[in-house]
Amino acid sequence: MQTAHNIDDLRRIARRRLPRIFFDYVDGGANAEVTLAANEADFSAIRLRQHVLRDVSARDLSTEFLGQRHALPLMLGPLGFLGMLARKGEVAAAKAAGAAGIPCCVSAFSICPIDEVAHSAPHTVVYSQLYVLRDRTMTEALIARAEAAGAEALFLTVDTATTPARERDARNGFRNLTRPTIGQWLNMLSRPAWCRAMIADGMPEVGHARAAGFGRGVMEQAGNLSRQIDPSLSWADVDWLRRRWPRKLVIKGIMEAEDAQRAIEAGADGIVVSNHGGRQLDHAASTIKALPAVADAVAGRIDVIVDGGFRRGAHVVAALALGASAVSLGRPQAWGVAAGGEAGVARAIGLIAAELDATLTLMGLTSVDELRAWGREALYAL
Ligand SMILES: Cc1cc2nc3c(=O)[nH]c(=O)nc-3n(C[C@H](O)[C@H](O)[C@H](O)COP(=O)(O)O)c2cc1C
Repeated sequence: MQTAHNIDDLRRIARRRLPRIFFDYVDGGANAEVTLAANEADFSAIRLRQHVLRDVSARDLSTEFLGQRHALPLMLGPLGFLGMLARKGEVAAAKAAGAAGIPCCVSAFSICPIDEVAHSAPHTVVYSQLYVLRDRTMTEALIARAEAAGAEALFLTVDTATTPARERDARNGFRNLTRPTIGQWLNMLSRPAWCRAMIADGMPEVGHARAAGFGRGVMEQAGNLSRQIDPSLSWADVDWLRRRWPRKLVIKGIMEAEDAQRAIEAGADGIVVSNHGGRQLDHAASTIKALPAVADAVAGRIDVIVDGGFRRGAHVVAALALGASAVSLGRPQAWGVAAGGEAGVARAIGLIAAELDATLTLMGLTSVDELRAWGREALYAL
């Protein structure tokens, strides 16, 4: 793998290795991509406090969230199609997470199903992401599969009642890849190493969809699975899920204080403050802007995980100071997978961890737990 000094370098390597159709699928967002841009841009308003002449020679980056201590205040978030970016992309990500001592959440749209991921990365804490499907019997089967695979938490994603236009995908004909045009074939064939990786294990399929008989081939299966996502989803379904699922339950896609309060009442163990990486509601607030009010409403009663635009150690510091228990990495993981499989994801985690360590040290802090205890004292007021 080529050298990457920061997450943007990994993105550039991924761009060279992936066909444009798949690079854009990862990189893009909804509509005018206002929220996509805001997620990253709003970190530039953060200013950190710098305390000096404290002994910072021994440092501890570990912290606790979702009932366990992890080596870093990070997790890998659920990303569909990781296995379309590199061979067995989901397994590569899970192995890198385990080696770094952080959990990994497997998407409902993963190519390698959760059982295979859990089996191939036995030292990784694995979570499972769920979409509630119109067919509840099918949903039950997905939950049972996650339970049998040993998933320690279920992440219920709730911000996908519909799929907005993702204009880069529309332009590239991403959803029509079931029958590629000549242009699309040429696009894919321009990356022969990627093509070889994609057919190395036979034609790729969406793990969950294969089991449910959702057609053949990854694009047809993904389309059929998307159409199954139930827009009638409501808090009553969360109650149902809470009764059904015995382990940690996390609701992903909370942006407002009152919804966070409602999640606590429904018995959730955690929430993810998320706008789906700017891929759903365009003009939603950036997550770093939404986080403080949500964290205030939660007041430490459950874990608040946050995602969206996190590319730097200082971004993680800002989130922890504003009340998050941990940060979930989205695209950095995908770029890592595309750039170098397990080594690429390890690099993504390592880069952010090293920056986190240096940032804490220069702020005069010796541990992530000390930062969490300081809270907003670690920042200048926004
Ligand atoms: C390519 C891609 C696929 C995604 N697939 C899913 C998914 O299947 N389920 C889900 O809950 N979120 C999914 N997300 C959203 C991420 O879990 C996360 O919320 C988002 O990527 C965080 O923003 P970031 O990419 O800026 O870090 C996806 C995001 C990307 C970029």
